[in-house]
Amino acid sequence: MAVRHFLTLHDLTPDELNQVIDSAIALKKAHRENTQKPVLAQKVLAMIFEKSSTRTRVSFEAGMAQLGGSALFLSPSDTQLGRGEPIEDSARVISRMTDIIMIRTFGHDKIETFAQHSEVPVINALTDSFHPCQLLADVQTYVEQRGSIQGKTVAWIGDGNNMCHSWINAAMQFDFKLQIACPTGYEPNPDIVKSAGDRVVVTMDPKQAVSGADLVTTDVFASMGQESEQTTRLEHFAGFQVNHELMALAADNALFMHCLPAHRGEEVSAELIEDKSISVVWDEAENRLHAQKALMLFLLSQS
Ligand code: CP
Ligand code: NVA
Repeated sequence: MAVRHFLTLHDLTPDELNQVIDSAIALKKAHRENTQKPVLAQKVLAMIFEKSSTRTRVSFEAGMAQLGGSALFLSPSDTQLGRGEPIEDSARVISRMTDIIMIRTFGHDKIETFAQHSEVPVINALTDSFHPCQLLADVQTYVEQRGSIQGKTVAWIGDGNNMCHSWINAAMQFDFKLQIACPTGYEPNPDIVKSAGDRVVVTMDPKQAVSGADLVTTDVFASMGQESEQTTRLEHFAGFQVNHELMALAADNALFMHCLPAHRGEEVSAELIEDKSISVVWDEAENRLHAQKALMLFLLSQS
């Protein structure tokens, strides 16, 4: 059987994605009840990080340990990856010694090249274009709080970035409506928007985007690698903060999500992110652990 990768949400079918979400919920219960068996004993996860991380690193490393396996942290500064060894060669070597590989990098083409030359499953742990693991945790969180996300309306407020692109893919795969509001010049990739057809609408008005939304979500204005644009972006994103005033225009009982790390007072108000009746950001963060355990079990069961 051909090795299965998870570079975007489109690498799994809608049925498979729902199976991963159900498995994540079951794994969370087993974790709570301390009944998880070491089903990945002797399996090794390689974790390649070319950008910083708290949640992704801790969730993958802890998740692998909880399943009985182990994880290796690899950074460009202490491997040959940082000294120009070709990605193709690194992929062939690392995949002969480990069972599954997770990569956080810049260009999405790098992870595609790596996956083409890997003998084991490769997981996208964030590129400049997509962050699909976060979406597994986010959909799990929605399902736990409110039931199926199918047919619901989600609002994305802010930058048309990697998270926004993965929300667009999620709208297609999990079958919900996505209303995006971005300042001019910060829209998501038009090809990705087009691929979603009428499930996705893009506006410049946050109020219009949150209207009728069951879930409102945002992310930092300047992503990793865009630090030099922080000041300009703060000006361009004026009026795009998610706060109680904006949430009041969403549907009754609407939830707030943020992949974190958050910049309070910029894309989200401090009051909203701390409002436990609306904000589920800590559940989202915890669910990275359970969702990625489910994902690794799924990918390893396919090869
Ligand atoms: N949300 C997320 O991926 O967080 P980290 O950058 O801390 O991994
Ligand atoms: N868009 C953010 C997400 C961080 C988890 C970034 O790429 O920095």
